[in-house]
Amino acid sequence: MPIRALTTSPLSGFASDVRAGLARPAQKELPSKYLYDNVGSALFEVISHLPEYGLTRADERLLRRHAGDIVNRLPSPVAVVELGSGSGRKTRCILEALSRRQLTLYYPVEISPSALAACVRELSDINAVSIVGFEREYLDGLLEVSARRQRGQHFLVLFLGSTIGNFDRHASVEFLAKVRRTLRPGDALLLGTDLEKPIAQLLRAYDDELGVTAAFDLNLLARINRELDADFDLSQFAHVARINYDARSVEMHLRSMRRQTVRIPAAGLCVEFLQGETIWTESSHKYFAEEIFPMARAAGFCCQTQWIDEEWPFAENLLIAE
Ligand code: TRP
Repeated sequence: MPIRALTTSPLSGFASDVRAGLARPAQKELPSKYLYDNVGSALFEVISHLPEYGLTRADERLLRRHAGDIVNRLPSPVAVVELGSGSGRKTRCILEALSRRQLTLYYPVEISPSALAACVRELSDINAVSIVGFEREYLDGLLEVSARRQRGQHFLVLFLGSTIGNFDRHASVEFLAKVRRTLRPGDALLLGTDLEKPIAQLLRAYDDELGVTAAFDLNLLARINRELDADFDLSQFAHVARINYDARSVEMHLRSMRRQTVRIPAAGLCVEFLQGETIWTESSHKYFAEEIFPMARAAGFCCQTQWIDEEWPFAENLLIAE
């Protein structure tokens, strides 16, 4: 019996998700959204500057280079909704290009309060843009924003970085279809997708030399210690990045260095780990550029244009709701 329940009192969302993920008889797992508390969001910001992690820079290069072209292909007037804005740095050039043609409403949706505050601060100097932030999960935030849609207004939804890659292939189409259901025909979705690249390059991107990605991943255990009174010994877990060849993804795991027992009182849980056993924390799926067109179609969009960065294979895809 790896798990012992200690209480039956009602649990917070975090506590019950931790309990459900760590009480699994097979592969233990934790939902990746919990990586992004204030510490995790700050560490991810550092990851995006690491030489090994070219993804964010590729995303930014494409947005900077093609902002004018992207904006010219959008319906008008358009309000911008960003799912997972992070610090908002990447979004600046799109908002600047749009604000040259119209007054622009920008709604960042972000679960990390510190990242959301940074985003509002970072972008508030752009003329002709007004910002209303939503501290929400993606779809909840999007629904709230759509309730504020003005007559004749279109939406541009930004889903940048490679967050779509954190869903498995089936779930990613389902997620896009849910986004589509909140949109109207003609609305746009700008979707970032990280493309296939050599294995060694991928492994370095998700397990950097300085150990920032390891700290980012381990922070999830530190967060459980902080918020749920757990006693994870962080020195007894190690971050591991591995390739899943069937899924075409990089998987992130936290591996237990020895046999150990961890108590998580606020989740009513006592978990046993075998030596070498892992907790799966996230997967990052990689795509072929051609794969995006059928994915978009299956979700009710047509992929109108695709821009590709050659330096770090990455695609920005402009999808239009049909
Ligand atoms: N969405 C990012 C990605 O897939 C998240 C990420 C980067 C990440 N490095 C990580 C998640 C390390 C967990 C561990 O690239």
